[in-house]
Amino acid sequence: MAGGRPIRTMNGVRSFFTDRIFLSFLSTLLFLVAISFLLSTKATTRPHPIQSVHFDLIRRQASDHAALVSAYAAYSRRLKIDASRQVRLFSNLASSLSELASRVGSDEDSLHPVEKEAKDRVKLARQLVSESKEAFDTQIKIQKLRDTIFSVNEQLHRARKLGDLSSQIAASSTPKSLHCLAMRLMEHRILHPEDALPSTSDSIASDPSLYHYAIFSENIIAVSVVVNSVIRNAADPSRHVFHVVTDPMYLPAMQVWFAKRPPTGGAHVDLHSTDEYTFLDASYSPVIRQMETGKQEISLLHYLRFYLPEIFPKLKRVILLEDDVVVQKDLAELWKVDLQGNVNGAVEMCFGGFRRYNRYLNFTNQVVKERFSPRACAWAYGVNVFDLQSWRTERCTEQFHQYQEMNEDGLLWRPGTVLPAGLMTFYTTTKPLEKSWHVMGLGYNPSISPEEIRKAAVLHFNGNMKPWLDVAMNQYKQLWTKYVDSDMEFLQLCNFGL
Ligand SMILES: *[C@@H]1O[C@H](CO)[C@@H](O)[C@H](O)[C@H]1NC(C)=O
Repeated sequence: MAGGRPIRTMNGVRSFFTDRIFLSFLSTLLFLVAISFLLSTKATTRPHPIQSVHFDLIRRQASDHAALVSAYAAYSRRLKIDASRQVRLFSNLASSLSELASRVGSDEDSLHPVEKEAKDRVKLARQLVSESKEAFDTQIKIQKLRDTIFSVNEQLHRARKLGDLSSQIAASSTPKSLHCLAMRLMEHRILHPEDALPSTSDSIASDPSLYHYAIFSENIIAVSVVVNSVIRNAADPSRHVFHVVTDPMYLPAMQVWFAKRPPTGGAHVDLHSTDEYTFLDASYSPVIRQMETGKQEISLLHYLRFYLPEIFPKLKRVILLEDDVVVQKDLAELWKVDLQGNVNGAVEMCFGGFRRYNRYLNFTNQVVKERFSPRACAWAYGVNVFDLQSWRTERCTEQFHQYQEMNEDGLLWRPGTVLPAGLMTFYTTTKPLEKSWHVMGLGYNPSISPEEIRKAAVLHFNGNMKPWLDVAMNQYKQLWTKYVDSDMEFLQLCNFGL
């Protein structure tokens, strides 16, 4: 072209089509509005009451559909969808509509054929809208996932600038292959809505004679490793119930994963999303309040551990497993551990002067100084047995709420971490467990003794070198990857280098 216009790129084509959809939407809209206007003025001049009702009906139908069509026009512009079939349909519709509009004369007789055509148009518009609705719903869901990837990247970017939080967030955020997995599972779910794990019956989910685990995570492959490893080492898998709670966005993906890979040996997986716990609102929980005012950076999933009695109102005991652990022994024995009236069973991690309360809490603060000993031994999250009845009688959730309120400005402990809040909440109500239940450090410590690893019931990849990341430590990676379901088609599609 003489003007030297640039060659149309793929994006150009796409926006061309998007514009076409938009224009078709627009012309459909204009026509429907015109018809509805035309009929409304004609109807008022017509004396016949039945005729008037009839036109009124068509007019309303036309304006209703005009509203729908305009809504979808807005969507199509925003989402930039290139559905060529829709483009063709909509542009055909638009041209026949304009042709129809040109035939509308001023005399009443010419209205009758228009009436029929208008009805047909409305019918077609309805059909188009219902077809595009499905596509748009799908697109919206996929878009949401993409937005999340973007926001995680942004978060990472921000964290790198902040430096301090950098390594922590780098380890907890999801690399591309994990996002790919979630998206593939999600897309599969949209195409095959029937592929979802049926929900666990209440009689099993709240049977006190079974062993119950709480796992709060968005990481599908990590959750699958936790579940697989417990099952493969259990004498009787059918007694183990895994309550997995995830972000609402990842629930469909988890449902597909566990529908395709149901737990073996009669074990039970009970999937939930955080938005089911409606008691968690700003009037009840300071965590939610702080999230709403932008004072809380980390995800709600991390805080669910402080609401176990509310999440499991019918249970007396639950084992909390973090998603970066792998299990090597039957956990039935852990379930039966005697907590002697305590709320929390946990492995301690102090040695010498290290990892005592003064490392985690601000002892220049008066509240901290008055209530805690700086030399108290810190314990770890990762593998914890919680007695929910003692929790309820000790009112630990209220305790937690008080401390969380007091730390609004981060004067008691560094915000964005949950361990200090736990150390405070369960200060006098934690029972130390035998150390082999929970061997830590596989995500940062290269020199854990092979003997200690061999004897461990649970290995914890705390630290930044998570086993699902490229930076995982080679000497420990196999301990985790052997529980990865590598036959799963979705893993192969997403380049997991495991
Ligand atoms: C520790 O608490 C004191 C007293 O409230 C406060 O002045 C100080 O800033 C706190 N230190 C940190 C690191 O938050």
